[in-house]
Amino acid sequence: MKAPEQDYPGDQLGSRVAQAFVRSFGGPSQGVFFAPGRVNLLGAHLDYNGGDVLPVAIDLGVYAAVRLRDDGRLRLASLDREGVVEVDGAQLLDRPDDLGAGAWAAYPLGVWSEFVRRTGTRVGIDVVFAGDLPIASGLSSSAAVEIAFGTALDVSCGTGLGAEAVAEIGHAAETGFVGVPCGIMDQYASALAAGGALLLHCADRTWERLALPVGGVEVLVVDTLKPRELAAERGFEDRVRECSRARDVLASAGTARGVLAAYGTDEVEAAREELGPVLFKRARHVTTEMQRMRRGVEALRAGDLRGLGAEVFASHASVREDYEVSCDELDAIVETVREIDGVFGARLTGAGFGGCVVVLLHPTARADVQARVRDAYTRRFGTQPGFHALRPGPAPGPVDVDLQD
Ligand code: GLA
Repeated sequence: MKAPEQDYPGDQLGSRVAQAFVRSFGGPSQGVFFAPGRVNLLGAHLDYNGGDVLPVAIDLGVYAAVRLRDDGRLRLASLDREGVVEVDGAQLLDRPDDLGAGAWAAYPLGVWSEFVRRTGTRVGIDVVFAGDLPIASGLSSSAAVEIAFGTALDVSCGTGLGAEAVAEIGHAAETGFVGVPCGIMDQYASALAAGGALLLHCADRTWERLALPVGGVEVLVVDTLKPRELAAERGFEDRVRECSRARDVLASAGTARGVLAAYGTDEVEAAREELGPVLFKRARHVTTEMQRMRRGVEALRAGDLRGLGAEVFASHASVREDYEVSCDELDAIVETVREIDGVFGARLTGAGFGGCVVVLLHPTARADVQARVRDAYTRRFGTQPGFHALRPGPAPGPVDVDLQD
C-alpha cells in the first residue's frame, strides 16, 4: 500500500480495524482508508441555502478496511456494532426496506450504489468500519463514513474520481439513499478541508483553502453529551422547509434569486410582513450570516483572530435567537468561555439541538477554559461535558497499519 504522507494520529484504530477485518472475513484487507470529521467555524445552516461555509477538518474520523470481491456481494461490519450486514450487489440500487439493526449500513450502501451509478463499476466488497468521532455530536460522523468508503472504492477500483466527485457521491448517498436533506458542507469538508479552513461557496461548489495561523490558534470542542438525534432530525428538516418557503415568499415579493443566501438583509427587512415572524427570523439569520462570513473571512485573511472570533460569537447569537437551533447547555458553554482571556470565539457546531460547541482559542488558554467550563457546567446541569482538543485533520486516503495485536 502507498505510504501515507501525513501522520494519522488515530492509526492505532486503523490497525484495530485491519485486525478486526481478519477476524470477521478471514485473511487481510487490501487497504485501510481514513476520512476526517469536521467543525464549521462560520456559515451556520448556509450550505442548503446556497451560501458560504468555513469548515476545518479534524484529526478524529472514520477508518474503513476493505477487500474487493469478484461475486458482486457486499458484507459490511463495524467495530461498534454486532453482526455483519450482507447484501447482493447485483440487485442494489435503492435502499433495502429491511436493514433493521443494520440501518447504519445505509450510509456506505448509498455510497456504493451512487458509485456504481456514476462509474458503472459494480464491484463486490467486504468492509469493516471504526471511528473515533463521537456519534451525533455535530462533528460529521456520517460524512466521514461516506468519504472513507467512497475514497476506498475510488482508490481500490482505480476509478480516479478524485475528492470532489467522492464528496458529491457521499452527498447524493445521504440525501437520496439515506434520505437526510442535508447540504454539501460535511462531505466537502471531509474530502477537501485538510490543510486549512475550507471556504466553500455552496451555490457553485467553488472553494479555496485559507491558512490558519500556525501555533496561534487551537480548536477545542466541548461536547454537551446531550443526546440529540430525534429533535435534531425533525428540527433540521423543519428549518430546511422554512428556508425554502422564505425563499419563495421573497421571490414573489421582489426578485427571484434562486437561493435564500443570495438575498440582502434589506430585502428581508422589506418583506417582513409577507414573511411573517418565523420565516422572517430564519431569513434574517441566513442573510446576516452571509455578512458575518464575509467579515470573518476578511479577518482570517488578515490574521486577525479576534475579528474572526467576534463573528463566531455573533453567529452563535443568531442561531440562538433567529434560527432557534440552540439549547441551554450550548448557550451556557458559549457564555462561560466568552469571559475567558485567550478565547477568540465560540459557537455551536453542526445542526444544533445539542451536540458540541467549537471554541477558537489561544493554545495557552486551554487548561483554564476546560477547568472553568467543567465547573460552571457541572454546577448548572449536574453532568460533566466532554472535551476534545483537536488538531487539524489529514486528507482522506490510505493509512499504514500493523496487523500484529
Ligand atoms: C448539519 C448538516 C450540514 C449543515 C449543518 C448546519 O451538519 O449535515 O449540511 O447544514 O448541519 O450548518
